[in-house]
Amino acid sequence: MDLKQLFRAGIREARPYVPGKPVEEVQRELGLADVIKLASNENPEGPLPEVVAALQRAALDVNRYPDGAAFALTRALADHLAVAPEAILLGNGSNEVIDMLVRALVSPGENFVYSEQSFLVYPIIGRVHFDTGRGVPIAPDWRHDLPAMAAAVDERTKLVIICNPNNPTGTYVGAQEFAEFLRRIPPRVIVAIDEAYYEYVTAADFPQTLPLLAQRPNLFVMRTFSKIHSLAGLRVGYGVGHPDLVGELQKTREPFNVNTLSQAGALACLEHWDAVAGRARRNREQLEWLAAELARLGLTVVPSQTNFLFCLAPGRRGQEIARSLLEAGVIVRPLDAFGLPDGAGALRITVGLPAENRRCVAALARVLG
Ligand SMILES: Cc1ncc(COP(=O)(O)O)c(C=O)c1O
Repeated sequence: MDLKQLFRAGIREARPYVPGKPVEEVQRELGLADVIKLASNENPEGPLPEVVAALQRAALDVNRYPDGAAFALTRALADHLAVAPEAILLGNGSNEVIDMLVRALVSPGENFVYSEQSFLVYPIIGRVHFDTGRGVPIAPDWRHDLPAMAAAVDERTKLVIICNPNNPTGTYVGAQEFAEFLRRIPPRVIVAIDEAYYEYVTAADFPQTLPLLAQRPNLFVMRTFSKIHSLAGLRVGYGVGHPDLVGELQKTREPFNVNTLSQAGALACLEHWDAVAGRARRNREQLEWLAAELARLGLTVVPSQTNFLFCLAPGRRGQEIARSLLEAGVIVRPLDAFGLPDGAGALRITVGLPAENRRCVAALARVLG
């Protein structure tokens, strides 16, 4: 009996999400003692000491189930964002929020629209969930092709996901073009904007989406504690939207999807929000340094609003460069499987600590010869 045949076609055909390799795995496989990971857009700075202390305190309570409604975290987040607590949906990472949206909204035979060169989880969820995803190629300037995405919306479309700024290209859509896009989308289609890197953004014309929620009940904003707040390992993300939308989504949420430590950690991050500006500034300084160095090595570097850089080494293969860097103990993300022509040499490099970035540049200089 072929057990795989028992599964729905969408599951059989889905390709599993391949995360960046963990440091320990590379150390083991290649026998390297000193490995740095610049592959998963994590914050290289650890969590704040105050957050670690809150986690230690919360650890004493893990014999009990978490607060299923995450009362304290939801209230604090609502205050912080100046929205009603009923407008907030918490997830086990924003990943789970995306999953809940697709599962709850899109029926078999319906579809949701996303950019093909964006967060790889969207097509995976689409595949797994009755093949409902509909990818639209990115524009030549590596930004979401909003007119093409609006044109891809049909009477069977339930949801459009905009990743802003976009992973893995680091590009963004501006306030004006986003407003124009919203005008083209019928109110029966939910527009979910994935702002996982929001706190890193410096562009003055970046859309401020939360204030739009009052006029746009079909808008849904997603953010996370995984990036600037350094809680990727705890898995806390959230969505903000109209209470009616959130209320329906809440029904699909597992009872204890955000665990005790995650709630405590995220709450402590909110209490120490003043740390965000320094984190964003240090990231920006390193990002600019890294971008200049990569350009000096002959790479094409796409301007980024995030904590990572998308770069291309035309004539080379991203996989090969990444493999050589791996052997030098530097983990980056090759993007060959990204619908790009062979030989585009596409890589995504997360901004690390200054010494990590220097090491990455030195290794890359050797690899590129
Ligand atoms: C665009 C985007 N959305 C969502 C996520 C998932 O974040 P979380 O850790 O909150 O699930 C990521 C993580 O890399 C991301 O890049």
